[in-house]
Amino acid sequence: MRINAPKGTQDILPEAAVIWQWIEENVRQVFFSYGFGEIRTPIFEQTQLFARGIGETTDIVEKEMYTFLDKGGRSMTLRPEGTASVVRSYLEHNLASRAGVTKLHYFGPMFRQEKPQAGRYRQFNQFGAEVLGEDSPLVDAEIIALATDIYRRMGLDNLEVRINSVGCTVCRSKFKEAIVEYLSPKSEELCESCRKRLEKNPLRILDCKSPVCKGLTDLAPGLEHFLCDECNSHFTDVKSLLDCLDLHYEVDSRLVRGLDYYTKTVFEVIYKDLGAQNAVCGGGRYDGLVQEVGGPPTPGIGFAAGVERLILTLEKQGKLPRINWGPQVYVSVLGESPQGTAFKLAQELRKRGIRTEMEMSSRSLKAQMKTADKLQVQLVIILGENEIARDIVLIRRMSDGEQRELALSEAVDVIQEELTGLY
Ligand code: HAM
Repeated sequence: MRINAPKGTQDILPEAAVIWQWIEENVRQVFFSYGFGEIRTPIFEQTQLFARGIGETTDIVEKEMYTFLDKGGRSMTLRPEGTASVVRSYLEHNLASRAGVTKLHYFGPMFRQEKPQAGRYRQFNQFGAEVLGEDSPLVDAEIIALATDIYRRMGLDNLEVRINSVGCTVCRSKFKEAIVEYLSPKSEELCESCRKRLEKNPLRILDCKSPVCKGLTDLAPGLEHFLCDECNSHFTDVKSLLDCLDLHYEVDSRLVRGLDYYTKTVFEVIYKDLGAQNAVCGGGRYDGLVQEVGGPPTPGIGFAAGVERLILTLEKQGKLPRINWGPQVYVSVLGESPQGTAFKLAQELRKRGIRTEMEMSSRSLKAQMKTADKLQVQLVIILGENEIARDIVLIRRMSDGEQRELALSEAVDVIQEELTGLY
């Protein structure tokens, strides 16, 4: 029986992998331009980290984590997101003692056992950034500007930025009281999940997609009315800083996000044409998280973006780059005796950075030319016994079939020149 990749995972084949590399290069350049160094944390962590960090009553922790006992009976979890790990590492390595604010970026696979659909996978990749140790609204605006710069750099447009403030624990507990009081008499009308949320995590009801729950919360007291002075003025400052940059955004008072660590500013970047899974990135402030995982009170903020959704957006907007990665030259070998010379020639070309493929099975010239054609090489170098005897090679330009002889000694230089001319 054939074994396929697990549901919700994908293989990234060579033609797609070059797009991933292009994305990674572009994203890193933007991160570096904002002063974010890279951090690489483990793919799995102690389960406790996510349970405490993300929140016991979130969908992620309740239903979606890949958790297992290791051979020592310890509970481990494949990371469902990057923020908790970055915070753990920040504390473990006392990064706070280094000069200035800690600014880190990451790139890598995350795991959530969700129901797979277009744009939603069980293993997906995120790039993200976290800033620790600064509570100024300037950082909130900087993080949002950074996220949007990445998309702009890739030539994307029509993306929407939605922002909101979920307040601090004080304003949120007042809001929770009010919404529970408002919704409790109507709890029978809520969907099953929201009925549970009403007890455990009422804020999440604002995020429910069910039209009935939406209708009920439309009329409920809004979170914005419960923000304390400090949270209110922080949010006002963030908005005016974004206005300063002419960065367009919409305030979405329903935006609460799916992780419990958020405080004050939250945001998402949406590309509507992606359908149900249209958030290309999301993030926000988490001023209580460092303490939650055992550190001193430390403000934090960050975002993460889905790479697969970015690729879907690039595809939809016709912005996927064409990247040449296949061989430029095919070294065709006729018979066995020219093999050594051909191999040496191929190695010389590779040393110069020319992408070179060589015939390995001494097939007929016709078969070799067919392969070269399929590989879409620009030049074929032909080496048979005749050529070896005369110290020459044949060079064929694939675009027009023109073929000529070259002295073996000057072949590498001429091929290099010819390829430069072809670009
Ligand atoms: P998140 O909203 O859960 O936030 O995920 C961020 C982004 O990852 C989403 O906007 C989406 O593009 C992508 N994503 C999430 N789940 C999936 C999935 N199952 N399949 C494909 N793509 C997915 C976080 O992860 C937070 N750690 C963000 C953050 C960083 N907040 C502060 N710092």
